[in-house]
Amino acid sequence: MAAAPRLAVFPGSFDPLTNGHQDLINRATRLFDRVIVAALRNPGKEPLFSLNDRLAILNEVFAGRPEIEVAAFDGLLVEFLRAKGASVVIRGIRSAADIDYERQMALTNHHMFPGADTVLLLPAAEYGHISSSLVRQIASLGGSVRGLVPPAVESWIEKRARGARTASV
Ligand code: PNS
Repeated sequence: MAAAPRLAVFPGSFDPLTNGHQDLINRATRLFDRVIVAALRNPGKEPLFSLNDRLAILNEVFAGRPEIEVAAFDGLLVEFLRAKGASVVIRGIRSAADIDYERQMALTNHHMFPGADTVLLLPAAEYGHISSSLVRQIASLGGSVRGLVPPAVESWIEKRARGARTASV
C-alpha cells in the first residue's frame, strides 16, 4: 500500500489572511508534515494587498514554522500540485453556504487530476463568520479589523490607511 501523503497545499487569495485561515493552517499542520500555503497571484477582484504584500504578510505570520512554506501560484491549482509533487488540497468550510462551492472545486480539481483529493476542515466556531471580503470592506471604510485578522495583518492595514491619509493631504 502506498504511504499516506505527508504534504498538503492550502490555496487561497489571502487578501488578507484572516484568523480563520490561520486557524485552518494550524490545524492542517497537525494532520500533515508539511503545508504549502499557496497565494493566488491574480485573485481577479480589486485586491487590498499586492501579491508581494500578501506573501510578506504570510511569511511574517508563519515565521519560525519550518513545516509551513509560503508560495505564489498562477493558473490552475492542479498544475501547481503536480509541480510540487502534492496530491492533497486543504480548504476550510465555515458554513453550509461554503459547501457547494468547495464541493464543485474539489470535484473539478479531481476530474482534472484524479490523483488529487481535497480535505475540508472546519475552523473553530469563533471564526465561522470571518471572511476576507468583509475584512477588505471594513478596512476600506476605515473600521477596526481587530479580532478578525492576526495582529500582523492589522498593522499592515493600519500602515496602509496611514499611507492613504498622508497621500490625500
Ligand atoms: O481564497 P479563495 O479566493 O476562496 O481561493 C480560491 C482558489 C485560489 C483556491 C481558487 O480560485 C483556485 O484554485 N484558483 C486557481 C485556478 C483554478 O485552478 N481554477 C479551477 C478550480 S476548480
